[in-house]
Amino acid sequence: MESICAYVLFVSLFISAGLADALGVKGYDYGRNMSLRLYRRDFGQSSIVGSLPLVDGQPPPRLEIRDLQKDNDQWNLYILALSWMQYTSQDSPFSWYQIAGIHGAPGLTWGNVAPLPGNDNLGYCHHVSILFLTWHRPYLVLYEQTLYNIIQYIASLWPPDDLDRVQKAAKRFRIPYWDWAIVPPAGESVLPLSIGGSSTVNVSGPNGIQSISNPLFSFAFKPFNGSIFPDAPYNRWNETKRAPSPNTDPNAISNNSFVAASLDNHLPSYQQRLYNLFSNYRNYSHFSNEGWISSNNNGTYDSIESLHDSVHTIGGGGWGHLAIIAYSAFDPLFFLHHANVDRIFAMWQVIHNDSYVVPTAAVYASHTQNQGDIEDIQTPLKPFFVNDTSFWTSDMVRKLETFGYTYTEVANKTRAEVIATINRMYTDYSPATILFKDNENSLAHTSPSVDSQAFKTVTQQQSDKSEAIVWQHGSITNLPLDAIFKANINGQSYREWIANIEVKKHAFDSSFLIYLFLGDVPDDSSSWQNLDNLVGSLGIFAGHGQPTKAHNGKVTGTIPLTAALMHMAANQDISSLEPEDVELVLHSALKLRIALVNGTVIDANKVDGLRISIVSSVVTVPKAEDELPNWGEVEANFDLVA
Ligand SMILES: *[C@@H]1O[C@H](CO)[C@@H](O)[C@H](O)[C@H]1NC(C)=O
Ligand SMILES: *[C@@H]1O[C@H](CO)[C@@H](O)[C@H](O)[C@H]1NC(C)=O
Ligand SMILES: *[C@@H]1O[C@H](CO)[C@@H](O)[C@H](O)[C@H]1NC(C)=O
Ligand SMILES: *[C@@H]1O[C@H](CO)[C@@H](O)[C@H](O)[C@H]1NC(C)=O
Ligand SMILES: *[C@@H]1O[C@H](CO)[C@@H](O)[C@H](O)[C@H]1NC(C)=O
Ligand SMILES: *[C@@H]1O[C@H](CO)[C@@H](O)[C@H](O)[C@H]1NC(C)=O
Ligand SMILES: *[C@@H]1O[C@H](CO)[C@@H](O)[C@H](O)[C@H]1NC(C)=O
Ligand SMILES: *[C@@H]1O[C@H](CO)[C@@H](O)[C@H](O)[C@H]1NC(C)=O
Ligand SMILES: *[C@@H]1O[C@H](CO)[C@@H](O)[C@H](O)[C@H]1NC(C)=O
Ligand SMILES: *[C@@H]1O[C@H](CO)[C@@H](O)[C@H](O)[C@H]1NC(C)=O
Ligand SMILES: *[C@@H]1O[C@H](CO)[C@@H](O)[C@H](O)[C@H]1NC(C)=O
Repeated sequence: MESICAYVLFVSLFISAGLADALGVKGYDYGRNMSLRLYRRDFGQSSIVGSLPLVDGQPPPRLEIRDLQKDNDQWNLYILALSWMQYTSQDSPFSWYQIAGIHGAPGLTWGNVAPLPGNDNLGYCHHVSILFLTWHRPYLVLYEQTLYNIIQYIASLWPPDDLDRVQKAAKRFRIPYWDWAIVPPAGESVLPLSIGGSSTVNVSGPNGIQSISNPLFSFAFKPFNGSIFPDAPYNRWNETKRAPSPNTDPNAISNNSFVAASLDNHLPSYQQRLYNLFSNYRNYSHFSNEGWISSNNNGTYDSIESLHDSVHTIGGGGWGHLAIIAYSAFDPLFFLHHANVDRIFAMWQVIHNDSYVVPTAAVYASHTQNQGDIEDIQTPLKPFFVNDTSFWTSDMVRKLETFGYTYTEVANKTRAEVIATINRMYTDYSPATILFKDNENSLAHTSPSVDSQAFKTVTQQQSDKSEAIVWQHGSITNLPLDAIFKANINGQSYREWIANIEVKKHAFDSSFLIYLFLGDVPDDSSSWQNLDNLVGSLGIFAGHGQPTKAHNGKVTGTIPLTAALMHMAANQDISSLEPEDVELVLHSALKLRIALVNGTVIDANKVDGLRISIVSSVVTVPKAEDELPNWGEVEANFDLVA
């Protein structure tokens, strides 16, 4: 029997009126003694995850972070509430520290939901599991409700003239997501400036405009207790880092420009992976998680979990918190990233609504689950209470409406409309929709051009790579349609190319990255993420120096090759996408490199369980915008590593 109790929130700020605290970080000065008010009993949050109130009878959409920023009131409320949550005493179950702490470190017990014996160092999260998507859904809602309740209170502090307007904005608030697979607006990076551009932010609150520590830039522990991280350098870093440099130094500083450039360089890979997942993954078991090892189907090596892992490793910039499973939730990027994963899940649910959670053995242990336990549609998603005595289950979290939020891409949309949206948003690097895209006949965006003030990326580092086949930054103006559609001159089918990868998730005592390049690669791994001849990388998101009950199993993922090959065809390096033209070139040009997240280069022959096969499939293109491409059988072409 569990001992379960529901909390009433007693928010307490670690600091009060002065707000410039000893840590050198700064919150908002509300001009009054907040600690008097913050112990109000009716503040609203409980450990029961429920539905947020509808607005005019409708669930408001979660917005992309750049869109939320266009609404001044909602944006200011969001920044203020994030900051508030980060200043809330770490003793509160609704502090940033404890909500993030549900996921992994410090292995805390939340809501009195006790761990299984021996599992008390593990977080509650489910990875490599049929519950990966469904567990994170109520987790996001718990976070969303906590912010929402703080926002309602903050909104009540505005002067009478503004009160009505700000409170209306507060009621519409839902957490934003960060779309890492869409081409960003011209001149911007995949990583928004609001997240990585500055460690401070000017926010307009009820007590005027103030400059505060940017709660999207990092989370500063308050106080920092190094013992929750068993290993260096995390046990010395008192705030979350991204691409910290020098990477093991206690005084390392984040380099968000590096993360921005890496994400931009990976955009073609991420977008192709996402489009392939929407198009060719019809079974929830295959789509959702990387625990399912394909034994007789080479067309389902990828999963949204594996793609999400890659974003974690690149978003952490190598050594940052986001790249380590147990530490990742402390980085403010985590919930933005996961809201996007949840949105992709929702879109997939509309187009493949007949496949869902089926009984599957847990590959990993978690706080409340043992390895080998069968997880199914009724497994309690702990520690997320549906009422005082029960937990949410996958069966209960199927519909967004249950929780009072939605996404623009799925709200009131038919299956055909969702598919049309996918074809519009995620085919910048795919030949699939070229024929019905308005006479563009080109890949509109080859790579975002990141030239804003804060993110200065370095593309000239390529100069010493004479034999590298540069493709990322070259824009194709005239796609060689006859070469791409050589297999079918009516332009109805072409060939997709993919590197299928399988490897042991715990091959190393750390997360690591598997990279593919076209042509020469410098020895120093520090530039790899940003090279112009990078085809893609697969991030293996693992633990770090922690005593997990690590499993010995494999995970799978993919690196798509099609966009890079189209660029080669445009440059007349290959004359078609057919095997006779592609295989020999790939054999000699495709270079494999592996490095741990701290940059240590690993010999591919020494990676436990690594296997990489190059596969391809003839794909019939959609005839209309509301249809998806149709994949043929996925054929094995050759092995890169057997
Ligand atoms: C956080 O760490 C930095 C770098 O070591 C240090 O300068 C700063 O004083 C630390 N802050 C606190 C509150 O310990
Ligand atoms: C704010 O109020 C609390 C609780 O009454 C009190 O302990 C604290 O000293 C006050 N702080 C300031 C700065 O007035
Ligand atoms: C905040 O506003 C000040 C004064 O206008 C400006 O100098 C500063 O650059 C702004 N900071 C940020 C992070 O936008
Ligand atoms: C720091 O964390 C460790 C490990 O979780 C815990 O045992 C210890 O009590 C904490 N120290 C403080 C001062 O909170
Ligand atoms: C941050 O990364 C950028 C892009 O890779 C690089 O040009 C710059 O030198 C780095 N800055 C620091 C301080 O390491
Ligand atoms: C999806 O795949 C799983 C695992 O292979 C299988 O058990 C299940 O029956 C499949 N579902 C459908 C709808 O085909
Ligand atoms: C899948 O690929 C592997 C390795 O490339 C190959 O040996 C196997 O025959 C393929 N399986 C199928 C069903 O095509
Ligand atoms: C799935 O979608 C189809 C087509 O839009 C619809 O007819 C059907 O009712 C849906 N099934 C469920 C279980 O929602
Ligand atoms: C709690 O929820 C469960 C599952 O929906 C339900 O069976 C149970 O009756 C509920 N208990 C109470 C006290 O509402
Ligand atoms: C869905 O449709 C309803 C009724 O027309 C409308 O009020 C609501 O705003 C729509 N939702 C979204 C997110 O567009
Ligand atoms: C990188 O990490 C590995 C494994 O965690 C460790 O053995 C190695 O010493 C680290 N290298 C550096 C340069 O920190």
